[in-house]
Amino acid sequence: MQRIALINPYPGVGKTTIAASLGHAFALAGRRVTVIDLDPGGMLAAAYGIFRAPTKGVDRVLLNGTPLASIGIGARDLLTLIPAGAGLQQVGESGEGAAQLQVLKQATETQCTNQAFVIFDCPSTGGQLVANAIFAADMIMIPVTADPASLNGALKALLSLKRFEPYLKQKITTYLLSNRVVPRSVASKLMREKLAKHFPELLLKTQLPESVAIIESGSIGRTIFEYRATSPAAKAFRQLVDELMP
Ligand SMILES: Nc1ncnc2c1ncn2[C@@H]1O[C@H](COP(=O)(O)OP(=O)(O)OP(=O)(O)O)[C@@H](O)[C@H]1O
Ligand SMILES: [Mg+2]
Repeated sequence: MQRIALINPYPGVGKTTIAASLGHAFALAGRRVTVIDLDPGGMLAAAYGIFRAPTKGVDRVLLNGTPLASIGIGARDLLTLIPAGAGLQQVGESGEGAAQLQVLKQATETQCTNQAFVIFDCPSTGGQLVANAIFAADMIMIPVTADPASLNGALKALLSLKRFEPYLKQKITTYLLSNRVVPRSVASKLMREKLAKHFPELLLKTQLPESVAIIESGSIGRTIFEYRATSPAAKAFRQLVDELMP
């Protein structure tokens, strides 16, 4: 079982979009996957067509130790969604301390043993929820767009990972993932060159294209594979799965 956390404190870089589509891509490749919404905004459920945000979710796991299985929703074949839940905002508010940071790690370690992948969609607000995901992750994936502010966010994320490193028991693989790439755009090209120059060992080969089909599919609660299975975006997600799959 491999746990992947999507982080970047800059909003709108595609964390939720990638969590939803990568989750479905793994499932379509025949792997069991659990996708966990750690954003109190709770938009991941909508990406799978569940527009009324479920009230029970990972908030119960983090606050009360509720088992994941009792709140999981079978969103697609082989794909389980753990929604955010109405109380997720409260996590970290009462200063639960260091022990709380291990809750998600322990829950996934002991209760997701039959899953090939667990994906955490993190909020851009940072704090205890992101810390919980970092503690639990085997892999960190940081989406970066052509917007320089998203690179700034990525640098912040890398710095906070450095700060966590001494307290982590497992080795975390970190990747940068280019998103919203426009083939002939100078901004996309310059950003890609910058990433390749400064972070060659972190940069994933796969580049996710800017795609109207991604926006349209998200707005109707279908994944890119259900909406435009032959689109360049769907192809890129399949390529990402190939790149990540051991
Ligand atoms: N490759 C893409 N092509 C086109 N639109 C995209 C792409 N990736 C993401 N988007 C769009 O960008 C917007 C923001 O994406 P998303 O919500 O996934 O970002 P986020 O990082 O989760 O944001 P937040 O930090 O606010 O949770 C959405 O409208 C989404 O449809
Ligand atoms: Mg999001």
